Amino acid sequence: MDLDSKVAVITGASRGIGRAIAEALSGQGMRVVLAARSSDLLEQVARTCVSEVATFPVDLREQDAPQRLIDFAVQRFGRVDLLVNNAGATKRGDFFELTEDDWHDGFALKFYGAVRCTRAAWPALMKSGGSIVNIVGIGGRTGSAEFAIGGAVNAAVLNFTKVMADRGVSDGVRVNAINPGPIRTDRLTVRIKRLAEEQGIPEEQAAGVMAEQMRVSRFGEPREVADVVVFLASSGASYCQGAVLDVDGGLTRTL
Ligand SMILES: NC(=O)c1ccc[n+]([C@@H]2O[C@H](COP(=O)([O-])OP(=O)(O)OC[C@H]3O[C@@H](n4cnc5c(N)ncnc54)[C@H](OP(=O)(O)O)[C@@H]3O)[C@@H](O)[C@H]2O)c1
Repeated sequence: MDLDSKVAVITGASRGIGRAIAEALSGQGMRVVLAARSSDLLEQVARTCVSEVATFPVDLREQDAPQRLIDFAVQRFGRVDLLVNNAGATKRGDFFELTEDDWHDGFALKFYGAVRCTRAAWPALMKSGGSIVNIVGIGGRTGSAEFAIGGAVNAAVLNFTKVMADRGVSDGVRVNAINPGPIRTDRLTVRIKRLAEEQGIPEEQAAGVMAEQMRVSRFGEPREVADVVVFLASSGASYCQGAVLDVDGGLTRTL
């Protein structure tokens, strides 16, 4: 995969999809910098990585946090070859119950966090001929009533992916995106538990009901997103620029 000894910065690496990405990239020999707020969880992930690893506990909603993260990565490893913008936590729910603060919070982390990490990492990525993978979400293309903030944020990140891919043509940086569908992480588990309680059925049955409603045969595993990140980061994807890959078990049925 040509990734050995290269350096990746992964946001939201303390659990879920970000954790799987960190472990998969580390498995390819990449040196990894893991960022999220929880230092304890980051340390746990670090222990499961098989290559050199550094953790950087940080709240990426803070304006100067992305620059500090990238400065740390460059200082620690001398280069950055890959930035994975994965951290995101947008509140679901009825549009009329979502507050101004919920909207600001959703954009602060996933959209502005990705914009600022990209700005901070770009010079190092130009130098290394590196790439960016944005972990976005199918809600960016298909709107749904319960996912107003996430949908808007994801649509914005998808457009931003295309913007930076265009810039990357002249600057020698590849920028691509992955749209995960329903992946079994804490976020999905919470929704399954809620459905199980509402319907008075066991959680596994609720998971089946939810999958059926979404018309997918099963939920995805974090590792199935991570494997696509490995591909997009590798020379195997050297002509992928501005690509948006759905990893959603067929949930998205539109073009
Ligand atoms: N799971 C899905 O079904 C699904 C579907 C579509 C898209 N996605 C997208 O995939 C990405 C990962 O999702 P996931 O399901 O793995 O989420 P998750 O399990 O909730 O993990 C989110 C990660 O982001 C970090 N994070 C949250 N707030 C942060 C902050 N303020 N500053 C820094 N890091 C922060 C969390 O760590 P700390 O709490 O320690 O900070 C954690 O590492 C998200 O962008 C999500 O929108 C997920």
